[in-house]
Amino acid sequence: MTKTRTALVTAAAGVGIGSAIASQLAADGMRVVVTDAHERRCQEYAERIAGETGAEVIGMHLDVTDAKRVETVMNEVAERFGSLDVLVNNAGFNKIEPVSEMSLETWHKSLDIDLNGTFYAMRFALPYMIRQGGGNIINISSIGAWECSVEHGSAYAAAKAAVMALTRVAAAENGKHGIRVNAVAPGLIYNDFLRKIYPKEFFDGYAQNRSFVGRVGEPQDVANLVSFLASDKAGYITGETYGISGGVFPHA
Ligand SMILES: NC(=O)c1ccc[n+]([C@@H]2O[C@H](COP(=O)([O-])OP(=O)(O)OC[C@H]3O[C@@H](n4cnc5c(N)ncnc54)[C@H](O)[C@@H]3O)[C@@H](O)[C@H]2O)c1
Repeated sequence: MTKTRTALVTAAAGVGIGSAIASQLAADGMRVVVTDAHERRCQEYAERIAGETGAEVIGMHLDVTDAKRVETVMNEVAERFGSLDVLVNNAGFNKIEPVSEMSLETWHKSLDIDLNGTFYAMRFALPYMIRQGGGNIINISSIGAWECSVEHGSAYAAAKAAVMALTRVAAAENGKHGIRVNAVAPGLIYNDFLRKIYPKEFFDGYAQNRSFVGRVGEPQDVANLVSFLASDKAGYITGETYGISGGVFPHA
């Protein structure tokens, strides 16, 4: 009988990519740990996903900027389930302020959540993956790391570019342990939270004028790619960053 793999997803109790990934990995047959900085929603989402998929899903409170807590959560998951097989670093933060006006708070918060949080999770998950002789890490970056645009914000763009570099080096270091490390760089991915911030015309314009496929992305689009990268079908893929933007920023 094949062993059930354990996946941990950060920031998985929102309305966007993280929760779609957690649901998809549960539907793929994994045991899933839903983590998020929002404590109450972790539990709610874990119960909802378990109810929808029949998978074992637990919620754990985790702010990825708290290195000590990241270490504790990785230890608890590995001890409770005997393995930590898939890690998806989804937590991200963006506030658009020009460099000339950016508050130090915005700069540090972006770097803390987007880059340091990703590093902490890898730092404390990798020793378990090395010990068990395999694992899979997928980091959520952004086309903001590639695109030359004022739309993304420099702190976010810089942090997400650093995530790509971190991904490549970690892949090089850990391939010999049977561990693959990849990143995914989405374009605009629609969710209920963004819908409240931007007018409908923004999404319509994006779909009509920028997307090659006539629509904006959905969280499920990213979840499908993560599901593939986490599977054995992607066994020869590591150190890569996959763009997923409906052609808005094709990257080759
Ligand atoms: N939505 C987009 O258009 C888009 C585009 C490109 C990249 N991304 C990236 O995809 C990822 C997911 O974005 P999303 O917009 O789908 O949101 P999401 O719904 O997946 O994430 C929001 C959740 O993040 C949690 N969170 C915030 N700070 C946290 C922290 N410090 N620790 C743990 N959890 C925290 C919030 O509580 C919330 O539940 C991010 O890394 C984002 O930068 C998003």
